[in-house]
Amino acid sequence: MERVTCDVLVIGGGGAALRAAIEAARHDLSVVIVSKGPLGRSGCTVMAEGGYNAVLRTESPDDSFELHFRDTVEGGSYLNDQRLVEILVREAPDRLLDLENYGAVFTRNEDGTLAQRPFGGQSRPRTCYAGDRTGHEIAMALLDEVRRLDRVRTLENVMAYRLIKDDDGRIAGALCLDLEREDTLVVLAHATILATGGAGQIYPVTTNPAYKTGDGYVMALKAGCPLIDMEMVQFHPTGMVYPESARGILVTEAVRGEGGRLYNAEGERFMKRYDPDRMELATRDVVARAIYREIKEGRGTEHGGVYLDLTHLPDEVIETKLETTLRQFLRYGIDIREEPMEVAPTAHHFMGGVPINERAETPLPRLFACGEVTGGVHGANRLGGNALADTQVFGCRAGLYAAKLARRLRARGERPRVSRLRLLDLESKLWERLGEEDPLEVRRELRKTMWDHVGLERSERGLKKAIKRLEELKRRVEERGVDDGPGLRLALETVNMIEVGLAVARSALFRRESRGAHYRTDYPERDDENWLKHTVYRPDGSLGTKPVDVSRIDPRSQD
Ligand code: FUM
Repeated sequence: MERVTCDVLVIGGGGAALRAAIEAARHDLSVVIVSKGPLGRSGCTVMAEGGYNAVLRTESPDDSFELHFRDTVEGGSYLNDQRLVEILVREAPDRLLDLENYGAVFTRNEDGTLAQRPFGGQSRPRTCYAGDRTGHEIAMALLDEVRRLDRVRTLENVMAYRLIKDDDGRIAGALCLDLEREDTLVVLAHATILATGGAGQIYPVTTNPAYKTGDGYVMALKAGCPLIDMEMVQFHPTGMVYPESARGILVTEAVRGEGGRLYNAEGERFMKRYDPDRMELATRDVVARAIYREIKEGRGTEHGGVYLDLTHLPDEVIETKLETTLRQFLRYGIDIREEPMEVAPTAHHFMGGVPINERAETPLPRLFACGEVTGGVHGANRLGGNALADTQVFGCRAGLYAAKLARRLRARGERPRVSRLRLLDLESKLWERLGEEDPLEVRRELRKTMWDHVGLERSERGLKKAIKRLEELKRRVEERGVDDGPGLRLALETVNMIEVGLAVARSALFRRESRGAHYRTDYPERDDENWLKHTVYRPDGSLGTKPVDVSRIDPRSQD
């Protein structure tokens, strides 16, 4: 088995991973990035369009960290870890400046200040942007910076499969699969950073790229780490619905930020019935559910969506601030300057995941995590624009604290070591996963189950059905293995996707209330008395709870 040894291993290829690698390399350490797809282009960051939230006060002089904090925690229905939110809002501006130093060019006002637009659930306009291709701008700048650092080695088309422990049970790297050579590879490290993103691909309609199959959640679980709040899956209100091949593709929140209006098929601006004050700029959980209801109750469009209309805006605004969206629809013969778009909710972001503390440490020794794979920052519903900020703030922290640990261990003369026997055992288990089940068929069944029963609206009956179905799929795959004919990556991802689906469905059944993105038709109210707590999904599939940090705002003591 080929072995690579380094100080810091970063698993992932998106914005959080790249930022973590940059920070770790700054400490004169050897860094290896393992990325399942092309670096910088396979995560969600590159696809994020609308923006990056930071208190800069350019559009609104009275904006403050306090307001950003409050918007985030209220938007997250108080399930956020408030210590982490505090860090997010205070460090987001500096991390944005880092991006400018790496070469990112954000849209500016005529006076040279950074432009900021309104986004959902925000009391002030604080979303910085680069037209409507913000994530692309950020990802390319990070990539350029990484390429400038000669202590960073990148291994692309390499899928991390399992975390490896040393003889004392501490994480010492990962067993990976070189997807081109179809062979295993061991990367040993003093410190390991998980930055693998979410798992939108477990749903049939998603904004996420094909690589987002929740591998990091499964690696964490298999190494003994619990996951928190896995039921909290955000459905972005506006994904494309037509043509079928474009279903789920993101229609950025910037469209509503710039003034886009939502109408049902009866021509009614229906958000006035759901959130008359904030209308289209209500939080995503509210807007997504409103659209879902309109469609379900028969007021949807021909293709099963609602209308998102910009035709009242001057062409110039659309052409300059929403250029990507304009081109995205023109490709299908729809000119959004003249006709409305059709949109519907699409799986977008996992708020739950691996728990971290302020130093981005996970419960597993020597394992750090950052970005969407983590849980706790965004609570039960993330505000648009907070994810890009999260990748940079906690990516930087993960890189910094992983580097500090690696330097300490190096100074003590320690070397990451694992027993050969353990490696061989992990490797043989990997190959045992292969067999006869068609991964495409398994995915189809999994996704249908998730959409039908673990989507925007959930109930005990539906969730139990889903869990039964997913357990059957898991059994089938364990007994018969997955066919790697369509590709080794596809086969191994499919096994992971079932595990993640089960974590989401079981956690959703466990939380008997509605909060943020998690809506139970049989428990439609938020229940702070009994459920203001994190769900904890343990490696054996059982569930528990743990307290939420409400040190600064506690909804139970508010008027
Ligand atoms: O709508 C968007 O542009 C997505 C942004 C986000 O999820 O933060």
